[in-house]
Amino acid sequence: MSKISQQTIDAVLQPIGSAKGLPNAAYVDDQVFLHDRDAVLSASWAGIAFGSELPEPGYAKPLNFMGLPLLAVRDKSGEINVFHNVCSHRGMLLVAEEQPIKTVIRCRYHSWAYDLDGALRATPHIGGADKHECAGFNRDGHGLKLVRSALWMDVIFVNLSGDAPSFDEFIAPVVQRWEAFSGAGGLQEVYPSDTGSRLELTVASNWKLPVENYCEAYHVPWVHPGLSEYSPLDQHYNIVDGDDMSGQGTLNYTPTNAAEGVLPAFAAWPADKIKHAEYIALYPNVLLGIQADHAYAILLVPQAADRTLEKLQICYVGEKSAGPEYRECREAVLAAWKGVFVEDVFAVEAMQLGRQSPGFQGGVFTPIMDVPTHHFHAWVARKYQAAID
Ligand code: FES
Ligand SMILES: [Fe+2]
Repeated sequence: MSKISQQTIDAVLQPIGSAKGLPNAAYVDDQVFLHDRDAVLSASWAGIAFGSELPEPGYAKPLNFMGLPLLAVRDKSGEINVFHNVCSHRGMLLVAEEQPIKTVIRCRYHSWAYDLDGALRATPHIGGADKHECAGFNRDGHGLKLVRSALWMDVIFVNLSGDAPSFDEFIAPVVQRWEAFSGAGGLQEVYPSDTGSRLELTVASNWKLPVENYCEAYHVPWVHPGLSEYSPLDQHYNIVDGDDMSGQGTLNYTPTNAAEGVLPAFAAWPADKIKHAEYIALYPNVLLGIQADHAYAILLVPQAADRTLEKLQICYVGEKSAGPEYRECREAVLAAWKGVFVEDVFAVEAMQLGRQSPGFQGGVFTPIMDVPTHHFHAWVARKYQAAID
């Protein structure tokens, strides 16, 4: 990738005290944006949507993955599959609008039809008028092209390249780390709700800047003065755990308004750590948080080099917690997080503007406070390096 030189990659991969950050082109350049899609996000497990966006069996939702059309489909048994959203015949975009599918997914051009598992079922008039078969054409080889996918904490992850390590291997460090809080299997028993669960923000920044901002607590005193009152800097610690994540934790999380009631908490959460919380950027683009009574995921959906959609979904502990009796509690939690995440918007947008400046050449990392950020830069630099090798 000519816009990202070997020299700049080498500079990022230095020990933190002498490393530089990624060059400006990694944030502002349209070619690097597509390179990020193909060499960084596609080569890993990227979060693309929430399972709750496919509310019923048979539901199909088109997704735009950095210009690449995908289609998520919930089949009759409730399982979610992801396909390339393109007809095998002449390459028509297959599904343009999200919708429940009653029987088959039918192409609008020549009416070829696929079942919910992607198999090609009907090819009307393929052999001439009223001849729906054709000698030498076998439907079996022309189904929809499946993308490797996995569902975890209601996040639909995809690995476009097909050759990343297994999803279980990828997610294991998070699962193992957070078992100490949620208990074994605890994160499989969290549920989003129709109220108090979701928020979307569009930020005028490259997708990497929200990752960088999320994984450090250094900015908390100045950007989040309210949060800082109960969770000051000296209550935070850095997290670097395996290759694919970094973040920060706090010993003193207390934003939920107790007057609103008490949400169910993880049964296994240690009583002496009830105020602990952790925030992990799971590379490339999923930001995770865990507290005693909820966990959340933010998907960073890159839309352009300088535009990113942030989709938050908060999940609550146990199916009952998503019900109507906890509505006010959930709305209080969402409102508290909304306040914090909105405070971060100006920071990532102003960093994006700063990356137009020739006076900035990657910057420096402070050896203590910026450890999680440098961990992310080095991860991206290694993906860039792998694409060159
Ligand atoms: S392009 Fe889809 S049926 Fe022809
Ligand atoms: Fe922040």
